[in-house]
Amino acid sequence: MLSEKEAEELLNKVKNENLRKHMMAVAAIMRKLASQLNEDEKIWWLAGLLHDIDYESVDMNEHGLRSAEMLEGKLPEEALHAIKAHNEMTGVKAESKMDFALRASDAASGLIVAAALVMPNKKLAEVKISTLRNKFKDKSFARRVDRNRIMECEKFGMELEEFLSLSLDAMRKIADKLGL
Ligand SMILES: [Fe+2]
Repeated sequence: MLSEKEAEELLNKVKNENLRKHMMAVAAIMRKLASQLNEDEKIWWLAGLLHDIDYESVDMNEHGLRSAEMLEGKLPEEALHAIKAHNEMTGVKAESKMDFALRASDAASGLIVAAALVMPNKKLAEVKISTLRNKFKDKSFARRVDRNRIMECEKFGMELEEFLSLSLDAMRKIADKLGL
Protein backbone atom coordinates (compact mmCIF):
# COMPACT_ATOMS: atom_id res chain seq x y z
CA MET A 1 0.00 0.00 0.00
CA LEU A 2 1.09 3.55 -0.70
CA SER A 3 2.56 5.66 2.07
CA GLU A 4 0.84 8.97 2.78
CA LYS A 5 3.79 10.75 1.23
CA GLU A 6 3.61 8.70 -1.96
CA ALA A 7 -0.13 9.38 -2.15
CA GLU A 8 0.48 13.11 -1.82
CA GLU A 9 3.06 12.94 -4.59
CA LEU A 10 0.46 11.31 -6.82
CA LEU A 11 -2.07 13.96 -5.88
CA ASN A 12 0.39 16.66 -6.86
CA LYS A 13 0.41 15.36 -10.41
CA VAL A 14 -3.18 16.57 -10.75
CA LYS A 15 -2.91 19.92 -12.52
CA ASN A 16 -6.16 21.61 -11.53
CA GLU A 17 -5.80 23.18 -8.10
CA ASN A 18 -9.52 23.07 -7.34
CA LEU A 19 -9.61 19.40 -8.17
CA ARG A 20 -6.67 18.77 -5.81
CA LYS A 21 -8.48 20.68 -3.07
CA HIS A 22 -11.64 18.69 -3.72
CA MET A 23 -9.69 15.44 -3.38
CA MET A 24 -8.11 16.64 -0.10
CA ALA A 25 -11.53 17.60 1.25
CA VAL A 26 -13.00 14.19 0.44
CA ALA A 27 -9.96 12.51 2.01
CA ALA A 28 -10.40 14.52 5.21
CA ILE A 29 -14.07 13.52 5.45
CA MET A 30 -13.25 9.88 4.71
CA ARG A 31 -10.60 9.77 7.44
CA LYS A 32 -12.95 11.17 10.03
CA LEU A 33 -15.74 8.84 8.94
CA ALA A 34 -13.43 5.84 9.25
CA SER A 35 -12.48 6.89 12.73
CA GLN A 36 -16.13 7.27 13.68
CA LEU A 37 -17.11 3.93 12.15
CA ASN A 38 -14.09 1.98 13.42
CA GLU A 39 -12.79 1.41 9.93
CA ASP A 40 -9.24 1.76 8.61
CA GLU A 41 -8.47 5.48 8.59
CA LYS A 42 -5.50 5.27 6.26
CA ILE A 43 -7.29 3.20 3.61
CA TRP A 44 -10.37 5.44 3.68
CA TRP A 45 -8.18 8.54 3.50
CA LEU A 46 -6.26 7.14 0.53
CA ALA A 47 -9.48 6.25 -1.31
CA GLY A 48 -10.72 9.81 -0.81
CA LEU A 49 -7.45 11.46 -1.73
CA LEU A 50 -6.97 9.55 -4.97
CA HIS A 51 -10.53 8.88 -6.15
CA ASP A 52 -10.41 11.50 -8.93
CA ILE A 53 -6.80 10.89 -10.00
CA ASP A 54 -7.89 10.08 -13.57
CA TYR A 55 -10.36 12.97 -13.87
CA GLU A 56 -8.19 15.08 -16.16
CA SER A 57 -7.37 12.27 -18.55
CA VAL A 58 -10.57 10.30 -19.29
CA ASP A 59 -14.14 10.77 -20.35
CA MET A 60 -16.88 10.28 -17.83
CA ASN A 61 -17.83 6.70 -18.63
CA GLU A 62 -14.28 5.62 -17.85
CA HIS A 63 -13.88 7.86 -14.84
CA GLY A 64 -13.05 5.71 -11.83
CA LEU A 65 -12.13 2.66 -13.86
CA ARG A 66 -8.96 4.31 -15.05
CA SER A 67 -8.13 5.54 -11.53
CA ALA A 68 -8.50 1.98 -10.26
CA GLU A 69 -6.13 0.78 -12.99
CA MET A 70 -3.60 3.47 -12.13
CA LEU A 71 -3.80 2.48 -8.46
CA GLU A 72 -3.80 -1.30 -8.92
CA GLY A 73 -1.45 -2.89 -6.38
CA LYS A 74 -1.07 0.44 -4.58
CA LEU A 75 -4.41 0.44 -2.77
CA PRO A 76 -6.35 -2.52 -1.34
CA GLU A 77 -9.06 -4.01 -3.54
CA GLU A 78 -11.88 -2.60 -1.37
CA ALA A 79 -10.60 0.93 -1.98
CA LEU A 80 -10.33 0.34 -5.73
CA HIS A 81 -13.93 -0.89 -5.69
CA ALA A 82 -15.08 2.25 -3.90
CA ILE A 83 -13.29 4.39 -6.48
CA LYS A 84 -14.97 2.56 -9.36
CA ALA A 85 -18.39 2.65 -7.68
CA HIS A 86 -18.27 6.40 -7.00
CA ASN A 87 -19.21 6.92 -10.66
CA GLU A 88 -22.35 5.01 -11.63
CA MET A 89 -21.44 5.34 -15.30
CA THR A 90 -18.84 2.61 -14.69
CA GLY A 91 -21.68 0.17 -13.94
CA VAL A 92 -19.94 -0.81 -10.69
CA LYS A 93 -22.51 -0.83 -7.89
CA ALA A 94 -21.84 0.59 -4.45
CA GLU A 95 -22.07 -2.21 -1.88
CA SER A 96 -19.76 -1.70 1.07
CA LYS A 97 -19.72 1.03 3.70
CA MET A 98 -16.61 2.45 2.09
CA ASP A 99 -18.31 2.54 -1.33
CA PHE A 100 -21.22 4.58 0.03
CA ALA A 101 -18.93 6.71 2.18
CA LEU A 102 -16.90 7.80 -0.83
CA ARG A 103 -20.02 8.69 -2.82
CA ALA A 104 -21.57 10.60 0.07
CA SER A 105 -18.33 12.41 0.96
CA ASP A 106 -17.76 13.40 -2.66
CA ALA A 107 -21.18 15.07 -2.76
CA ALA A 108 -21.09 16.51 0.78
CA SER A 109 -17.76 18.22 0.12
CA GLY A 110 -19.36 19.92 -2.89
CA LEU A 111 -22.27 21.21 -0.83
CA ILE A 112 -19.95 22.47 1.90
CA VAL A 113 -17.60 24.29 -0.50
CA ALA A 114 -20.60 25.91 -2.22
CA ALA A 115 -22.00 26.98 1.17
CA ALA A 116 -18.66 28.51 2.21
CA LEU A 117 -18.39 30.44 -1.04
CA VAL A 118 -21.64 32.32 -0.39
CA MET A 119 -20.61 33.40 3.12
CA PRO A 120 -19.49 37.04 3.57
CA ASN A 121 -15.81 36.09 3.89
CA LYS A 122 -16.09 32.83 1.99
CA LYS A 123 -14.84 30.86 4.99
CA LEU A 124 -15.75 27.44 6.34
CA ALA A 125 -15.68 28.97 9.80
CA GLU A 126 -18.80 30.96 8.88
CA VAL A 127 -20.76 27.91 7.78
CA LYS A 128 -23.09 26.56 10.45
CA ILE A 129 -24.85 23.26 10.52
CA SER A 130 -28.13 25.16 10.10
CA THR A 131 -26.67 26.73 6.94
CA LEU A 132 -25.92 23.29 5.57
CA ARG A 133 -29.34 21.96 6.48
CA ASN A 134 -30.98 24.83 4.59
CA LYS A 135 -28.67 24.60 1.61
CA PHE A 136 -29.29 20.87 1.45
CA LYS A 137 -33.05 21.45 1.26
CA ASP A 138 -32.80 24.29 -1.24
CA LYS A 139 -32.69 22.39 -4.51
CA SER A 140 -31.89 25.52 -6.51
CA PHE A 141 -28.65 25.93 -4.53
CA ALA A 142 -25.59 24.12 -5.95
CA ARG A 143 -27.84 22.13 -8.27
CA ARG A 144 -25.07 19.84 -9.40
CA VAL A 145 -24.65 18.45 -5.89
CA ASP A 146 -26.60 15.20 -5.81
CA ARG A 147 -28.58 15.19 -2.56
CA ASN A 148 -29.42 11.51 -2.99
CA ARG A 149 -25.74 10.71 -2.77
CA ILE A 150 -25.39 12.67 0.43
CA MET A 151 -28.36 10.70 1.80
CA GLU A 152 -26.40 7.52 1.18
CA CYS A 153 -24.90 8.27 4.60
CA GLU A 154 -27.81 6.20 5.89
CA LYS A 155 -26.19 3.17 4.25
CA PHE A 156 -23.31 3.43 6.68
CA GLY A 157 -25.56 4.12 9.61
CA MET A 158 -25.35 7.87 9.91
CA GLU A 159 -28.12 10.43 9.86
CA LEU A 160 -27.92 13.39 7.53
CA GLU A 161 -27.27 16.01 10.17
CA GLU A 162 -24.56 14.00 11.88
CA PHE A 163 -22.87 13.30 8.57
CA LEU A 164 -22.93 16.93 7.43
CA SER A 165 -21.62 18.07 10.77
CA LEU A 166 -18.76 15.54 10.73
CA SER A 167 -17.92 16.53 7.15
CA LEU A 168 -17.88 20.23 7.98
CA ASP A 169 -15.60 19.56 10.98
CA ALA A 170 -13.23 17.47 8.89
CA MET A 171 -12.96 20.16 6.23
CA ARG A 172 -12.49 22.95 8.78
CA LYS A 173 -9.39 21.16 10.09
CA ILE A 174 -7.75 21.63 6.68
CA ALA A 175 -9.36 24.99 5.89
CA ASP A 176 -5.95 26.56 5.17
CA LYS A 177 -5.10 23.94 2.58
CA LEU A 178 -8.54 24.35 1.04
CA GLY A 179 -8.20 28.13 1.01
CA LEU A 180 -11.60 28.42 2.69
FE1 LIG B 1 -14.76 13.60 -6.44
